[in-house]
Amino acid sequence: MATPPQVRCVLACYALLALCSLALVSGQQQNWTFQHGVASGDPLPDRVVLWTRVTWAGAAAPPSDNVELAVEVATSQDFSGELKNYKVTCTSAADWTCKLDAAGLAPAVKYYYRFTAPGGVVSPAGRFHLPYPKGDARQGRVRLAVFSCSNWGWGYFHAYGVAARYELDAWVHLGDFIYEYGPDDYPNAAARQAVRGGLQPAHEILTLADYRQRYALYRTDPSLQALSASTPTIAIWDDHETANNAWKDGFPDAPASQANITDTRRAAGVQAWHEWLPVRPSGGVAAGPSAYSELAINRTMHFGSTLSLFLTEDRLQARSSPPYVNGALYSSAGALGGAVGGVDPSKWGPAEEAKVLAVKAQTDAFAGDPNRTILGKPQVAWLKQQNDDSAAAGVTWQLFAVTTIMQDILPDPSGAVAAAKASGDTANADFWGAVWANCSSSDATVVNGTPTNAAGIHLYSTACYRRPYVGANLKFNLSDRTPGSPTGYGAFAGVVGSCRLLEASARYKVILDFDAWQGFRAERDQLLDIAAESNNAVFIAGDSHVFWASVLKKANGEVVAAEFDVSSVSSVGFEEIFPFMPVDLLAASLVAGGGFRGGLRYANTDRKGFIYLAIDGEKQHADYIGIDDHCTPAGINSSFCMAGFDRFTSLERAKRGLPNDLLRTSCLSEAERVSGTVTAAPSYARAGCSSYNGAKPTVFAFASGSTQVLAEAPRGQSYSVEQCAAAAHAAGTRLFALNPSRTRCLGSKKTSTRKQGLRAGASCSGAGRVQFYKLSRK
Ligand SMILES: *[C@@H]1O[C@H](CO)[C@@H](O)[C@H](O)[C@H]1NC(C)=O
Ligand SMILES: *[C@@H]1O[C@H](CO)[C@@H](O)[C@H](O)[C@H]1NC(C)=O
Ligand SMILES: *[C@@H]1O[C@H](CO)[C@@H](O)[C@H](O)[C@H]1NC(C)=O
Ligand SMILES: *[C@@H]1O[C@H](CO)[C@@H](O)[C@H](O)[C@H]1NC(C)=O
Ligand SMILES: *[C@@H]1O[C@H](CO)[C@@H](O)[C@H](O)[C@H]1NC(C)=O
Ligand SMILES: *[C@@H]1O[C@H](CO)[C@@H](O)[C@H](O)[C@H]1NC(C)=O
Ligand SMILES: *[C@@H]1O[C@H](CO)[C@@H](O)[C@H](O)[C@H]1NC(C)=O
Repeated sequence: MATPPQVRCVLACYALLALCSLALVSGQQQNWTFQHGVASGDPLPDRVVLWTRVTWAGAAAPPSDNVELAVEVATSQDFSGELKNYKVTCTSAADWTCKLDAAGLAPAVKYYYRFTAPGGVVSPAGRFHLPYPKGDARQGRVRLAVFSCSNWGWGYFHAYGVAARYELDAWVHLGDFIYEYGPDDYPNAAARQAVRGGLQPAHEILTLADYRQRYALYRTDPSLQALSASTPTIAIWDDHETANNAWKDGFPDAPASQANITDTRRAAGVQAWHEWLPVRPSGGVAAGPSAYSELAINRTMHFGSTLSLFLTEDRLQARSSPPYVNGALYSSAGALGGAVGGVDPSKWGPAEEAKVLAVKAQTDAFAGDPNRTILGKPQVAWLKQQNDDSAAAGVTWQLFAVTTIMQDILPDPSGAVAAAKASGDTANADFWGAVWANCSSSDATVVNGTPTNAAGIHLYSTACYRRPYVGANLKFNLSDRTPGSPTGYGAFAGVVGSCRLLEASARYKVILDFDAWQGFRAERDQLLDIAAESNNAVFIAGDSHVFWASVLKKANGEVVAAEFDVSSVSSVGFEEIFPFMPVDLLAASLVAGGGFRGGLRYANTDRKGFIYLAIDGEKQHADYIGIDDHCTPAGINSSFCMAGFDRFTSLERAKRGLPNDLLRTSCLSEAERVSGTVTAAPSYARAGCSSYNGAKPTVFAFASGSTQVLAEAPRGQSYSVEQCAAAAHAAGTRLFALNPSRTRCLGSKKTSTRKQGLRAGASCSGAGRVQFYKLSRK
């Protein structure tokens, strides 16, 4: 826009005057602030939920119980281009959260949005783009980042911050977005478990006010704010959004004093979730807080012909009770410990075996009970109908989002030792063998209470090395009878008992957890029957705080789906439950156990992070992203890819003669995830430029799938496309065009800036050809 400078000044002065007079009339209205960031969510082809929360910063009470915000959605980052205007009312009844469904938008367009409060305070800006309608072939590649289990006290949310730099179509949170505990529980500050303090409120959350305060705290996290602003959220809840191991009628771990307020507490957790997440209730956003009691949060999000994402409700509507025996919550770990915890496995005989088999019969009866349900019949029927409908519409991928893993958790340390030996890895076989033999066979000291040997049981790792014994690789001091001592006799007896019950669980395949799908075998098989009718099925799950990759088989051995399970953002994992095993032994034990019907291919119990999925018409590629250090604020800068997997479509498997299984592949480069350009077109080399806040812009070239970094600029500031172009120019390369699929061209991209005297760009011509402009000084 060529507005002459004088006119601009006049307009600006006029605008200032207008602002001033407004401020004079109602000056205190400027005390509305934005402290919890912005978010978009539940993207549809023509609309998206936009969310923020206003905070009254004045001394007195807010002037009324509601406030109206102006909402702008624009196609340019500086809000100067094509602009749409909306309004949203935020009310004290919804804890001053603000939600609108911004309609009238189009797929694939890059949008920016922001909120303005009365008086002119402007929120941070967010961005999003929308999917094509179900079955629409223009969609092309879909990129999702998948998360689960973000616990304030257990660490920093760097996983969010890393993903905020990526090019994504959406991020998916599979539940445990908040945790309900007080500071004395998970993590327990007194036991030095807590990594991050400042928990609010400083007690277990029970009331609506408590839940709201907890969400408000979490939403101050800068990494969560960055990811929420960068791409739409798609969320479901698991148990901790209400309380641990929630089922349809209760919270088995609730304090006794809360036993009778289950309904009130559940309503509080559900309402706060609807308030604080950019989710669209089934009745629509316009219904406002009256829709915030909805339990049926199951819904489907479509991404053109590429993908249908089925989101399930796994906790509050239909889930069966955890098993009780004689009025007490049943624990198979406790039962196994009682059966064989006192006896060295080398001395187990028929008596021990009979006891273990009795426990197994009990656990199998619970897990195999055909009446035990997570989703319930109506939701299973709905899932089947959604799957059939998506498959019939020709959508390539049916992606099932559940909260808990479909896998069986059956760590088998002896099996890991044997597998290492069989593969020729004698170093690990010897070391792990000694660890496990020491751990499970120091019986004399436990049985009669008299320490008789050096008890070479080492404790290896717990979360963030917070406990005194951790990291120091300490042995137990069996003379130390101080209650609660982490290296004393009591802890020793507990560890030895744990090792033995684990050995029993592995040998006899006794499950230790009834909360995940392994405790609901009948309904799990129903889901696999549904998946068998998909065009191509993949499950994603969280909850376990471990990364898993697997294929899911029906009872007849037929592989019907892949499963990609994400570890936690921060919640402590198996390292805290099994500190007596080195982490690589733990991972190898899980794989040796085989998981569900022998389909487990990979486990990592060591890292926090997320899964990046790049999904197209040929394959789902999954990168397992680990965070180097979630224990300190500085860790945000360092992540790495631990493993990459491909799941090809049935068509591609047939074409390429591939097995019906996961393929372990190399990871994509960070530059590919950031730019969104994943595969190189075969016929020409490409160059790209990535730019994101606080990191270096990287210029890179593609040639047949390989990525070569051509140049880098310094970290520590934001870079514009022009600055990237300058770096590209300095490196003697050309600017890029985004062409994420081989068959189509997204559109041309041109940039020019007078200031830097650069002109660069790329344009599309013909079917899928990209022509590059050379960078030149103007
Ligand atoms: C904001 O509130 C403070 C009191 O906390 C008041 O002194 C100030 O005038 C208010 N500012 C505006 C712009 O209303
Ligand atoms: C819960 O309800 C039962 C039955 O009405 C009652 O006996 C019990 O005292 C109640 N517990 C609490 C903590 O209020
Ligand atoms: C399942 O429920 C039905 C009907 O309520 C009941 O008859 C049956 O015994 C139950 N089965 C088991 C294994 O509990
Ligand atoms: C959720 O599932 C129920 C069945 O449990 C179904 O009636 C309902 O339509 C589903 N909700 C959505 C939004 O599809
Ligand atoms: C096994 O225990 C012995 C002492 O009984 C100890 O010297 C050795 O280091 C232990 N080995 C491992 C791998 O923990
Ligand atoms: C082991 O514990 C006993 C009893 O608390 C203590 O006297 C002794 O110093 C401890 N030994 C070591 C090596 O810490
Ligand atoms: C990330 O690294 C940059 C430079 O290396 C540094 O300035 C910045 O403080 C780091 N961020 C954090 C959160 O440590």
